[in-house]
Amino acid sequence: MIFYFSGTGNSQLAAKQIGKAIGDEVLSINQRMKTKRTYTSKHPFVFVAPTYCWRMPRVVWQWIMDQQFEGCREAYFILTCGGSVGNARSYAKKLCDKKKLRFRGLAPVIMPENYVAMFSTPDKDESKIIIEKATRAIARWSDMIRAGKDLPAPDVSIKDRIQSGPVNVVYYPLIVRDKGFHVSDGCISCGKCARRCPLENIRMVDKKPVWLGNCTHCMACIGGCPVEAIEYKKTSQGKPRYYIMEE
Ligand SMILES: Cc1cc2nc3c(=O)[nH]c(=O)nc-3n(C[C@H](O)[C@H](O)[C@H](O)COP(=O)(O)O)c2cc1C
Ligand code: SF4
Ligand code: SF4
Repeated sequence: MIFYFSGTGNSQLAAKQIGKAIGDEVLSINQRMKTKRTYTSKHPFVFVAPTYCWRMPRVVWQWIMDQQFEGCREAYFILTCGGSVGNARSYAKKLCDKKKLRFRGLAPVIMPENYVAMFSTPDKDESKIIIEKATRAIARWSDMIRAGKDLPAPDVSIKDRIQSGPVNVVYYPLIVRDKGFHVSDGCISCGKCARRCPLENIRMVDKKPVWLGNCTHCMACIGGCPVEAIEYKKTSQGKPRYYIMEE
């Protein structure tokens, strides 16, 4: 059973490719964000998510904590990222220990950077090349999962430990806020940003989006706006938007 959380579609794409390769069902965490239930599978659980500040997103951590997993109690993690997952592996292992799941490894897949609120994002041509390469990595990890092998543990540097450790801890309270989002007159009031926010953090007021203060910086709203009417402070201005999520 494969679960994915995805802001802009990379992890959705990776999860679907894994599902096809190993012949297992693919379920969206986005659509199950507010539910708590028991999942039973005779195959391993595979969790696919973006990397947020060198770890799995906190909302994904919390979601996994809130569910019950029965049947095969093995867990694999695939984190899509723009460049590095740091020491995310050891935190995924800790989560498995808490949930009494058998940790089978965490593998990174480098995909297009989607963090338009902070960094440069690739244009369509660059993204296509990165995704082609990612598809090969996904096939490799899928083969290992299908064969029941552990995913390899990479070397972890001191920098990785600092990024996934203390930097991650201060990053959430200092940076992950929705105050910087604003909408221009170009907004066509389609409501897509509100419908797609996985945390239901956007309400349409007078036909314009209003952010409600519970944001995980997934970039679905700003990345997916069909007319690029959303900006984050001044940092997103002039940058290509990245969004490949399928409905
Ligand atoms: C809030 C946030 C934090 C991120 N942190 C990292 C990071 O620590 N390392 C990295 O390589 N990429 C980072 N990225 C890039 C994403 O992990 C990457 O683009 C991912 O594939 C997006 O997946 P999605 O399309 O499924 O949402 C970050 C993106 C966001 C939005
Ligand atoms: S997605 Fe863009 S155009 Fe549609 S309501 Fe939101 S801001 Fe407006
Ligand atoms: S408000 Fe935008 S960035 Fe924040 S969680 Fe919702 S869709 Fe993601």
